[in-house]
Amino acid sequence: MSEFIYSLPSHNRAASYQHFRATPSTGAIGADIEELDLTRLSDEGFAELRQALLAHKVVFIRDQSLSVSDLERVTQHFGEFGREPYVTCMDDHPHVVHVLKEATEKTPFVFGGAWHTDWTFQERPPAFTLLYGHDIPPFGGDTCYANLALAYEWLSPGMKKLLANLDAVHSPEMAYGVNARHNALLENMAIRYGSDTSAEVRSHPLVITHPETGQKVLFINPAYTTGIKGLRPDEARPLLDYLFKLATSEAFTCRMRWRQGTLAIWDNRSTWHMPVADYHGMRREMYRTTVVGEVPSR
Ligand code: SIN
Repeated sequence: MSEFIYSLPSHNRAASYQHFRATPSTGAIGADIEELDLTRLSDEGFAELRQALLAHKVVFIRDQSLSVSDLERVTQHFGEFGREPYVTCMDDHPHVVHVLKEATEKTPFVFGGAWHTDWTFQERPPAFTLLYGHDIPPFGGDTCYANLALAYEWLSPGMKKLLANLDAVHSPEMAYGVNARHNALLENMAIRYGSDTSAEVRSHPLVITHPETGQKVLFINPAYTTGIKGLRPDEARPLLDYLFKLATSEAFTCRMRWRQGTLAIWDNRSTWHMPVADYHGMRREMYRTTVVGEVPSR
């Protein structure tokens, strides 16, 4: 592998912006954004924020004070709301998921607690996800992110050629299907675990071209990608396992520490994320929306 390592460009360069200050989190992905008030940001400012988001792939906008309605307004600056399957949205905010774990809950299980990209089994998976930290434990409950464009770049020319024309199969079965009966584990969220998910199986190109950056991205993830079209399971599994392991190499990731009033926005088309389930006995309360994306294409 050493012949490739020195040719990897960084995907996370520092840059200056007019409407805020951005500090890269790691050499791979992520930036803290400061000196910005989302409730007063101009259209030009939002356009620049989108550029920063595409460049850093996930941004952590610090020191905000957002109501749920503010979060909805910020979301709509990035596009139309996405569809939220298997989760119950708030009664008076039909596009907002209240992600809540109380200090008194019996198990350490958390919503979305495995590496994934949001809802990739949809025909048009989310382009962006917004997650606002309203009540954050003093430590623990970080969220990790991986850069899937950087992981793709790492691959050898031969592997890129092999993957170029493959389609991956995506299904909610492992996470929400009949064998995923986690309903008792999340006491304060209404998630439809144990559902019949058979109607929501779909394939997408295994390598996509990002519609806004033009970068090639590995569009697979451990939670929803169940196979590769035209390959037998025992052929697809080792290939997927190799790619899954590669994408979570430290050099392709960052780990974000939440503070109350942080809004994270990630580009779902080029990242994975995973909340760390290490805050059992502490309260963590977040609000989450998505923005619908395009049909993924090569
Ligand atoms: C999610 O997968 O959307 C949850 C992320 C988190 O709670 O940090």
